[in-house]
Amino acid sequence: MKVLKKIPGAIGAIQRHTKLLLPRVTIRRLVNLAVVGVEMLFRRSRPTSRPMVAKIEASSACNLMCRGCRTGIPLVEYQPGNLSLEDFEVMLDKMGRYLFEVVFYIWGEPLLNKNLPDLIEAAHRHNISVIISTNLHFLTEEMGERLLDAELDKVIFCLDGWSQETYEQVRIKGDFELARSNIMRFIEQRQRRGTKKPYLEWQWVVTQNNRPELDRGKTAARELGIEKFVELVDWGNRLPEDERFFEGLKKVRQKQFSRTNRCFWLWSSIAIQYDGNVFPCCHVANKPYSERIYGNIVKDDLATIWNGRQYQRARQLVRSGWVDEETDVVCGQCYSPPIFIERPRS
Ligand SMILES: C[S@@+](CC[C@H](N)C(=O)[O-])C[C@H]1O[C@@H](n2cnc3c(N)ncnc32)[C@H](O)[C@@H]1O
Ligand code: SF4
Ligand code: SF4
Repeated sequence: MKVLKKIPGAIGAIQRHTKLLLPRVTIRRLVNLAVVGVEMLFRRSRPTSRPMVAKIEASSACNLMCRGCRTGIPLVEYQPGNLSLEDFEVMLDKMGRYLFEVVFYIWGEPLLNKNLPDLIEAAHRHNISVIISTNLHFLTEEMGERLLDAELDKVIFCLDGWSQETYEQVRIKGDFELARSNIMRFIEQRQRRGTKKPYLEWQWVVTQNNRPELDRGKTAARELGIEKFVELVDWGNRLPEDERFFEGLKKVRQKQFSRTNRCFWLWSSIAIQYDGNVFPCCHVANKPYSERIYGNIVKDDLATIWNGRQYQRARQLVRSGWVDEETDVVCGQCYSPPIFIERPRS
């Protein structure tokens, strides 16, 4: 019975992904996808396949200081900046033929990069889907029109509260009314063009404080015709203990700590900061680790990075199931759901 209940959701997810990715299929990408699957299964440390998804920081700057987000913690080692079109073109030349999808955020607010629509168009010239995640504060009418012109594929937006009072408890410096009115106007703009693109996903990080407003958020999402509403849990226990909320999301919580030994990102995707510095995933792509970058995609070639010492060592760590806390490879500090690394029992 449990399995049957999951079927409509699974069909919906497959349909959504198919819609987003099917037009991007090429023979080369398909072959690469198959090889990624096999090499991931055998956890090869020097794969012949290449990443299928690139998470690229359109901007590492942010106007907010959300609790629970690394961008909100002022670690000044890494200067904020924006991805240039020139560097992005170099990245596309090196990786574009393998990529199904570019995800234009890691830490930071992508709409702070005013060239974002040009970056989206550049990705589309290589037949790659584009996703952004935004706090909505800079989704002006003009930017909305430019994003629609550029045929952005998907927008994830984060509104975790349905009043200023609740919203700003997590989104420090956030303006609820501005964020809400910006997304409402964008939906109208999309409607006027008679398109369902970009696909809209509302994410809500559930906390003890915003939980009472969750139903109002879900109702608003339905009324506004937003395609998907996602409840998230706090990753990595970054929020204060009394604010975290996991009840009803227990499975996610259990999964976070299950002692399986997997990481698909080390074989399937790559995280790149605005200046080209490469990290294996968004969870470790941050400032304290800047001395441990895996390479620079603007300066180095993809194969050198992808099969470089850091990547090989990281894959070996995952394969062995032993995470060396002292290792100089950043994956050694992995505490990141939804990837589960078996840690040695103390
Ligand atoms: C780091 S932000 C970057 C993109 C953009 N600035 C935004 O807020 O959407 C990407 C996502 O991380 C989520 N996030 C940040 N801190 C989190 C935490 N502690 N737990 C779960 N999600 C978190 C945000 O809600 C957002 O959906
Ligand atoms: S808006 Fe996004 S990047 Fe900025 S602090 Fe909040 S979650 Fe982090
Ligand atoms: S830090 Fe963890 S989740 Fe990220 S790539 Fe490394 S092993 Fe995978």
